[in-house]
Amino acid sequence: MSFVQSADELAGKAAFVTGAGSGIGRAIAQRLADRGVRVVVADIDERSVREVAAELTGRGVEAVPVALDVADLAAWRAAAAVAAEAFGRVDILCNNAGVGPARATLDQLSDADLDLVLNVNVRGVLNGIRTFVPAMKVDGFPAQIVNTASILSHFALAGAGDYVLSKYAALAVSETLRAELAGTAVSVAVLCPGLVDTGLHKNTSALRGAAPTQEPTVTLDKPTPGMAPEHVGDVVVDAIVTGRFYVFPHPEYAEILSLRTGEIQSAITASQTVGDRDDTGYLGRSVLDLQTSL
Ligand SMILES: NC(=O)c1ccc[n+]([C@@H]2O[C@H](COP(=O)([O-])OP(=O)(O)OC[C@H]3O[C@@H](n4cnc5c(N)ncnc54)[C@H](O)[C@@H]3O)[C@@H](O)[C@H]2O)c1
Repeated sequence: MSFVQSADELAGKAAFVTGAGSGIGRAIAQRLADRGVRVVVADIDERSVREVAAELTGRGVEAVPVALDVADLAAWRAAAAVAAEAFGRVDILCNNAGVGPARATLDQLSDADLDLVLNVNVRGVLNGIRTFVPAMKVDGFPAQIVNTASILSHFALAGAGDYVLSKYAALAVSETLRAELAGTAVSVAVLCPGLVDTGLHKNTSALRGAAPTQEPTVTLDKPTPGMAPEHVGDVVVDAIVTGRFYVFPHPEYAEILSLRTGEIQSAITASQTVGDRDDTGYLGRSVLDLQTSL
């Protein structure tokens, strides 16, 4: 079931978008605002949230800036109170704030690098869920959650293991949440972009500046500047309207994904059954239930 039946129904809804001071989050906030959605613009960078909120307000949309460190659950509670005061309730939660990789091989990762990426990219998403989902479930109104993961939630990249780990986790959280919310009025989507032209690496370096870590040991040269964030914002709005769970703005990755799933498929096909036991109906029941309800 989709959160809305058409894009027109988005008008008047209220969204809470993290990492909305820049890049993809800002574009999601803009595209939602274009559809008449009121937006809480949340980011750790206080100046940027004020700028984005002012820009949206200038376009005639209600927008409220909130300074929020998504890793801090107490700060989430305070931000939710601001959202409640402004809009009554939040219909759309976009857990988008994130940091990039430390650019080190797994054996070279520092504790500080690991803490940053896991606290923001994983704990940040969980904190958003813990803050807003209980009310969404109890009140029973149609709601939508969009978690920003990555194409690197589906395959690894050498030298970006910290980021890959966090983004696989964001996908795992999203798939679990979808299973847990099946049968409720809360829809879930997981955004999995390839390269997008944003300030991710610059902003992450600035955040690391407060807690200096080692120099990068791996070079991750980008061959292209990446997709325009505005296009990703369009794709997110379209996914919300169509009720899609997996959201892939970069269709060119289909072949890479099928290489990995093909290897997994042939490995499991080659494995031997032991006895007549079968626990797929137990561990696999979320997937089986979803397939029957699609
Ligand atoms: N740019 C890409 O190529 C790409 C690809 C796939 C996924 N992503 C993901 O998209 C999301 C948005 O990144 P982006 O590319 O727009 O980068 P960005 O740096 O332009 O935006 C990320 C925003 O998150 C904010 N942020 C960082 N830590 C925060 C914290 N603790 N609390 C609140 N806000 C915080 C930053 O201040 C920044 O405004 C991230 O989750 C990122 O991992 C990006």
